[in-house]
Amino acid sequence: MKYQFNIKRTLLLLIAFSFLQGASAQDASIKYRNGMVVCATPDAAKVGLDILKKGGNAVDAAVAVQFALAVTHPEAGNIGGGGFMVYRSAKGESNTLDFREKAPAAASPNMYLDSAGNVIPDMSILTHQASGVPGSVDGMVEAHRKYGKLKWADLVQPAIDLARDGFKITRLLAGSLNSHQSQFEKLNPGKTYFLKIGGWKEGDLLIQEDLAKTLELIRDKGRDGFYTGKIADELVEEMKNGNGIISKTDLANYHSVWRKAITGKYKGYKIITMPPPSSGGIALLQLLHSVENYPLHRWGYNQDSTVQLIVEAERRVYADRSKYLGDPDFYKVPVDSLLNPAYIDLRMKSFSWNAATLSSSIQPGSFVGYESDQTTHYSIVDHDGNSVAITTTLNGSFGSKIVVKGAGFLLNNEMDDFSAKPGVPNMFGLIGGKANSIQPGKRMLSSMTPTIIEKDGKLFMVVGTPGGSTIITSVFQTILNVIEFNQDMQQAVDSKRFHHQWLPDNVNVERGALIETVIDKLKQKGYKIIIGGPSGRVDAILITKDGYYQGGADPRGDDTKLGY
Ligand code: GLY
Repeated sequence: MKYQFNIKRTLLLLIAFSFLQGASAQDASIKYRNGMVVCATPDAAKVGLDILKKGGNAVDAAVAVQFALAVTHPEAGNIGGGGFMVYRSAKGESNTLDFREKAPAAASPNMYLDSAGNVIPDMSILTHQASGVPGSVDGMVEAHRKYGKLKWADLVQPAIDLARDGFKITRLLAGSLNSHQSQFEKLNPGKTYFLKIGGWKEGDLLIQEDLAKTLELIRDKGRDGFYTGKIADELVEEMKNGNGIISKTDLANYHSVWRKAITGKYKGYKIITMPPPSSGGIALLQLLHSVENYPLHRWGYNQDSTVQLIVEAERRVYADRSKYLGDPDFYKVPVDSLLNPAYIDLRMKSFSWNAATLSSSIQPGSFVGYESDQTTHYSIVDHDGNSVAITTTLNGSFGSKIVVKGAGFLLNNEMDDFSAKPGVPNMFGLIGGKANSIQPGKRMLSSMTPTIIEKDGKLFMVVGTPGGSTIITSVFQTILNVIEFNQDMQQAVDSKRFHHQWLPDNVNVERGALIETVIDKLKQKGYKIIIGGPSGRVDAILITKDGYYQGGADPRGDDTKLGY
């Protein structure tokens, strides 16, 4: 009896522990098939799950999560930034929404160069001029208009409550707020609620009253509550005080765009992903095709041949990205050529098993007739099987670190995703040229890769991650972990990753990702291996063979999976 009692007590303790830990510790055997939310914070995941339980669909939950993340994940959740949504209905129709920021009308190609033509350090990162015109609020309004079911106000209200009543910050958020205190102080003369004398600690309450008021206007007036009136006045005033260039006309003119998803095949799977102005979808499809005909499954996860093949594919794909990818409304992206299987096969022909290809010997391909990584991703599936993958960002952690006075939200520094000067790397080390040059009204190139995968016409996976230039390679490897290496969703997310992006010619490896013998073999072939810290925060959902929703919440962050 006593023994049984102890088992029961242990089980209860385990369940309570799992609950307290959020879902990264959730028991994999718990089966959900009514709905699931996987996102960057426990509070936002709870908001999303509550909406699903109230009968909201995946888009309703996504809208509520977006606003809740703007409060509880200030590093990347936002109303002052932008993002991309990939949507798949239960019936199998797909669509994507581009709510990426745009360059203000007063932007110009050389705006970050000094009189000698050199890039001015940090100007596209830590100034008022670093911000693109925000797209997130319009994106949420538009997503809800087209697909939402519940009342708009009910989707915004949970975020207002979190901002006004406050929420208990995690150890990670306390650390990240503390590490930015001097920047917040310097860039926000006076005060912001992100500053705290003596520093932040886990469990402190973060209250954001100005943000609550802004969210109330959005709740009551929709897009007009943000792009016109009081908030637009405050944003433009903030710009004037800091030499910024976003005008009221820029705000009034901002509109998100529905774009046809790009799709491709990997073995028996259909990949539905984001078209330009994200480079993510095209790069992901190129990478998948590059490795499709090799026996990855036989070689195994992170074995030397697997790593070598993946790195060589990434080298060629990122070289293409630097030249051919940009905003399709301004630059004719050669999508068909880049995704032509014969072209991708030809690119892989220059690779030798004997030695690393030098990136200096690889240039962007040519075709006949003719491109902190703080961001956040959430994946949602509802009761009916509608699914949403959204990746959204301020670009750097806390964006430009500038809070709009009175309105209480952080501004993005997305302009750094443009190529400020051909060949000069941005904060992610990515280079670009004409395709991604700055032009008024143009959207800066992104690496965000929200993706939905089908198998046999049925929903199979919803996936995405933050991580700047590493987004594409993290999504790619997570997909391979499931399809090739038979990992379940949580294992696939937990598994250590590596990254290569053509230039710089390094292979960045998460500590513990590769065993010593693999590292030695790769080094002998000329690969420059750099061991580093955590990369990406993949949040994903897999639909199991028997129709259950299996979440993968990245333990590298506070990411949480909640289902019912
Ligand atoms: N700001 C990172 C990206 O869009 O790729």
